[in-house]
Amino acid sequence: MRQFALLALSVIAVTLLTHSPLTARTPLDKQESENKKPRVVILATGGTIAGAATSSTQASYKPGVLSIEQILKTVPEIEKIAQLKGIQVSNIASQNMEEGIWLELWRTIDNLFTHDLCDGVVITHGTDIMEESAYFLNLTVRHSRPVVITGAMRASTSLSPDGPFNLFNAVALAASPNAQNRGVMVVMNDYILSADDVTKTNTVNTDAFECPNFGPLGYMRGGTPLFFRESRQTHTASSIFNLKGLTSLPKTDIVYAYAFSSDIAINALIDASTDGVVIAGVGHGNYNKAIAAAMERGSSKGVAFIRSSRILGGGVDLSAEDYDSRWPVSFNKSPQKARILLMLSLTLTKDPKEIQKFFMEY
Ligand code: DGL
Repeated sequence: MRQFALLALSVIAVTLLTHSPLTARTPLDKQESENKKPRVVILATGGTIAGAATSSTQASYKPGVLSIEQILKTVPEIEKIAQLKGIQVSNIASQNMEEGIWLELWRTIDNLFTHDLCDGVVITHGTDIMEESAYFLNLTVRHSRPVVITGAMRASTSLSPDGPFNLFNAVALAASPNAQNRGVMVVMNDYILSADDVTKTNTVNTDAFECPNFGPLGYMRGGTPLFFRESRQTHTASSIFNLKGLTSLPKTDIVYAYAFSSDIAINALIDASTDGVVIAGVGHGNYNKAIAAAMERGSSKGVAFIRSSRILGGGVDLSAEDYDSRWPVSFNKSPQKARILLMLSLTLTKDPKEIQKFFMEY
């Protein structure tokens, strides 16, 4: 009883610290059995898992409608596997994700783990930006306890929504002692996917997430995680990136390369004083002379550049054509993930050789 009351008071304190409204839903009268169950806090940010439509068969819907309280009601089974607390951090379609929400997610998770307020965290999230939020937290949550992100490709009002079982799987994974020190994980469609490699590969299907370079970490089977590999990239508790004291992040952008691509976009970013630009290059991280000239111009103004590729698999390594150490290559990071690693690298250094080391390690 005392431990649960402490948990409740502490989560309220953390929530007040992070200015998030607390939605508590834990059966207070199951104290004895509850104390034996892992403590999982669910941070809700919105997305299709919180989405609703007027009919159960229509494809279109409005994301970010249901509260975490309403979502939890659709999956009563999760109360059997964990003591739960829900915190509504935001309720947005994830294409509207903000730097401030990322920093609040990081602060809340760091508080929860630092003060031993829970054993694992689940984040419900829109799928469009899910891989980016996962990778950002993979690089900044310096704890070994599990952070599991999930969502849905069909609205909660669908004839057969995928959100409820995704949420059950995510809570089961976050509650598993075997989930420690594996980095931030995404659970979708029974797959367990590593934050460093996961990407959305289909715009509409329920089977929309893959790890194109290294494959899934494992699978969820009836609420039990089966792991077949570990991420070899540095992450979470071993990360060098420390957000403590930071209230904003370096500004980094992405420029897409294509047949006779112009230099209008990249020069506009340079003139807008961006801190760094990732080139989503063609092939093995290549780009034309117009982009190359703009990179030289940007470099003279202190803008950092990363060579990535618009191609899903293979990455860009040191064997790239005309490799120039001034422009570090992204290795297996997609342009959208390379942008995040460049953003965090620039909180520590502008030296391209040091940044290249980060891209080989994280
Ligand atoms: N607007 C998209 C988002 O919030 C909906 C996609 C989804 O959540 O599955 O990411």
